[in-house]
Amino acid sequence: MSNEDMSEENLPSEREHAHHGAVEPVGDPFADPGLPPHEPRRQDIDERTARRSERTVALLFTLSMIATVGFIASYVIFPIDKIVYIFPFGHVSALNFALGLTLGVALFAIGAGAVHWARTLMSDEEVPDDRHAIEASPEVREQVFADFRQGVKESQYGRRKLIRTTMMGALSLVPLSGVVLLRDLGPLPEKKLRTTAWRKGMKLINQNTDQPLRPEDIGVGSLTFAKPEGLSDDAENFQTVIAKAALMIVRLNPEDIKDKRELDWSHQGIVAYSKICTHVGCPISLYEQQTHHVLCPCHQSTFDLSDGGRVIFGPAGHALPQLRISVNAQGYLEALGDFEEPVGPSFWERG
Ligand code: FES
Repeated sequence: MSNEDMSEENLPSEREHAHHGAVEPVGDPFADPGLPPHEPRRQDIDERTARRSERTVALLFTLSMIATVGFIASYVIFPIDKIVYIFPFGHVSALNFALGLTLGVALFAIGAGAVHWARTLMSDEEVPDDRHAIEASPEVREQVFADFRQGVKESQYGRRKLIRTTMMGALSLVPLSGVVLLRDLGPLPEKKLRTTAWRKGMKLINQNTDQPLRPEDIGVGSLTFAKPEGLSDDAENFQTVIAKAALMIVRLNPEDIKDKRELDWSHQGIVAYSKICTHVGCPISLYEQQTHHVLCPCHQSTFDLSDGGRVIFGPAGHALPQLRISVNAQGYLEALGDFEEPVGPSFWERG
């Protein structure tokens, strides 16, 4: 299409007017359609409906207050290590579940109350507001305050005492949840991070078969996971105990072991190391047979099991703790005591 065609097609009005000897402005293509007439809600015309909405809002704010009290009470009611079964989540920490549920309800109820208040009782009349200069003049500022006062009036904040009281209660109680969270800074762990379930004479139990391990069960190059004798997978405290006591068993050729102490603490080249990564505590699961390296899948810390569990790569801060093992009179692998250093990540009292 030529420029001439385009101008002819796009400016018919101009051409029309030019034909009569004068170019007149084209009509405004974005004419202001104006506001549709305001339709009052039932709450605007029926005080009983308005009072019902008011009670609903108050109920939601009251629910928030109850949930906040429940949040605080959860800290007192539930021991930190209590595990419960909750469908469909399975076994969860009772304390964490209660905290999450109550805080969620407390915040949701405040939000739902505010939305219901705005939708049913606050003014919903649309008011046009023309654009103006960005700099606010004293008159404009005065207008803002006047609008604010008008908003307060229209929201019925002053008139609806029940809403005002319950909302103030809900908003002032919710921050208490944050104060209670400070409890998580204590108590001090004392000796709990320094000991595990391993004791002298405890058999090493294969975590897959639940059977005590014999030296002949451990092939060269294989990686076996073990737990302490007497620890049932169904025990309530299983997760707490295994989180510190989980063990990796590997058989090395004794001549490949570079560390003298490691050799003394092993049995015929079978070495037992903590499975808990010394970075931030992920379970280690990958073993490279040729190099005797184990790799933590979380951040790729790599440890050399033929050299005292030394860190050779990655962010881990110290070597994997080794468990001293031997064989008992019945031919089963057993521990000769607990780990001699804390397992898992570094912590500030570790020393
Ligand atoms: S937890 Fe193992 S490398 Fe980070």
